Amino acid sequence: MSLLAAKRLEKHYGNHVVLENLNFSVESGEFVTLVGASGCGKTTFLKMLLGTEASSRGSLTLDEKPIPNEPGPDRGVVFQKYSVFPHLTVQGNVMIADEFHRAKLLGKSFGSDKRHAIEKARARIEEVGLSHALRKYPHELSGGMQQRLAIAQALMMRPRILLLDEPFGALDPGIRQDMHVLINRLWQEQHLTIFMITHDLKEAFELGTRLWVFDKTRQDPQAPEAYGATITYDLPISRDRPSTDLQEALYQGGLKTHTQETLL
Ligand SMILES: Nc1ncnc2c1ncn2[C@@H]1O[C@H](COP(=O)(O)OP(=O)(O)O)[C@@H](O)[C@H]1O
Ligand SMILES: [Mg+2]
Repeated sequence: MSLLAAKRLEKHYGNHVVLENLNFSVESGEFVTLVGASGCGKTTFLKMLLGTEASSRGSLTLDEKPIPNEPGPDRGVVFQKYSVFPHLTVQGNVMIADEFHRAKLLGKSFGSDKRHAIEKARARIEEVGLSHALRKYPHELSGGMQQRLAIAQALMMRPRILLLDEPFGALDPGIRQDMHVLINRLWQEQHLTIFMITHDLKEAFELGTRLWVFDKTRQDPQAPEAYGATITYDLPISRDRPSTDLQEALYQGGLKTHTQETLL
């Protein structure tokens, strides 16, 4: 049984077709990296997995049931920026994930529930290496630390699926490498299924077990919004392949020249 599957999935905003004819099946434990030109619908797709954007046509299933049309504890998300609340400390930001969930289920948390949530939050904070910064506020953290915090927040409820939207795009290359090590470790230790959008093809190859390229297969110059993007390449990535083989991998995958230019 696939974890997630789509059949002829489409997304429109009014007459604007953003995504069309998406067909895939993803198993638990895969690490899918998504690349494609800016504006082609990658974030929209991630939001459909998160449950904050509904599909327009076709099917999108989680455990063979239509994906819920709201976020749930089984799906965590990290955006490039603004995933954390500026008025809450590191600990507060991680606990809020639990509080949201609890408020939805039962109302406010009290007593032992609260203590349990604090312990859980501290464990998540430790996992991302931020224990020394429990009481700091986001503006007191570096960009890399803020993204560590956003990851801890996303993992608070122990989701099965982690959705990452260019999470390291704003970080310096050295810091980005540390984040790769972190995300790789969390993916393995927590048996996560990850979808990560990136502009960095090298990052896509380094982290992913599978690469998706989003692109349009048809265009109408008179009506640029008439057709949407789809998954034009779906490539398995061997973890053993050194990233210097990138060009060769692209070549073998048959990526179109214009797509390479857009991506590289
Ligand atoms: N809520 C919305 N309403 C209308 N159009 C939207 C909305 N969200 C995204 N779009 C449009 O959908 C297209 C894809 O956007 P997006 O998914 O953000 O692309 P990407 O993440 O690949 O850069 C863009 O043309 C964008 O303007
Ligand atoms: Mg985007």
